[in-house]
Amino acid sequence: MAALRGKFIVLDGTEGCGKSTQARLLAEAVTKAGVDVLSVRDPGSTRVGEQIRAVLLNPQHTEMSMRCEMLLYMAARAQMMAEIILPALGAGKLVICDRFVSSTLAYQLGGDGITAKQIRDIADVAIKGRWPDLTILLDMPPDRSLARVRREKDRIEQRPLAYHEQVRRNYLAQVQNDPERYRLVVADRSPEEVHAEIVQVLIDAKLSA
Ligand code: TMP
Repeated sequence: MAALRGKFIVLDGTEGCGKSTQARLLAEAVTKAGVDVLSVRDPGSTRVGEQIRAVLLNPQHTEMSMRCEMLLYMAARAQMMAEIILPALGAGKLVICDRFVSSTLAYQLGGDGITAKQIRDIADVAIKGRWPDLTILLDMPPDRSLARVRREKDRIEQRPLAYHEQVRRNYLAQVQNDPERYRLVVADRSPEEVHAEIVQVLIDAKLSA
């Protein structure tokens, strides 16, 4: 666990896959092991970022273009990076981030012809080139994960099931194309089982200094 100091871990996946619960369980376990943790969610976690989040998720904003949407996610991320993530990494904390660029590469990819290269290039500017050390994809079929969303669905969640199925395929492609930086964990199990596997994945990943 001490090897996690100064590392940047992302938990990602489709709606209702249990990321937030897993981010909390991981933060608790790592804190118990004596490692300082910063837990954040993307978009959000800063004053500016939470306002951008509210704009992004407001179901009334039906006119929002795909490029505006993509750039707002990047803007919120740029603020979070500069204001809290980079300083925390610099101070030797483990950063656990609920979603990140991997979400944009799943949700906005292909919208209005947006390519993966464009997303990566813009992200590189937004995050000042500090990419996560490991991204853990919590994978489960979107029809089951969406059914877990109990509150009123936000602007993105309201999109049809076919969209969320494409989002899942976009995540799976990322894991397949970059096995060094991604790991897949099956999310359709008890929170305890998923947590145990995430801890094992982090131990096995042997993230280098
Ligand atoms: P959350 O509810 O998991 O915090 O995520 C907020 C919503 O934003 C969720 O529907 C996924 C979506 N999203 C994107 O479409 N692109 C992104 O880059 C990110 C970070 C989230």
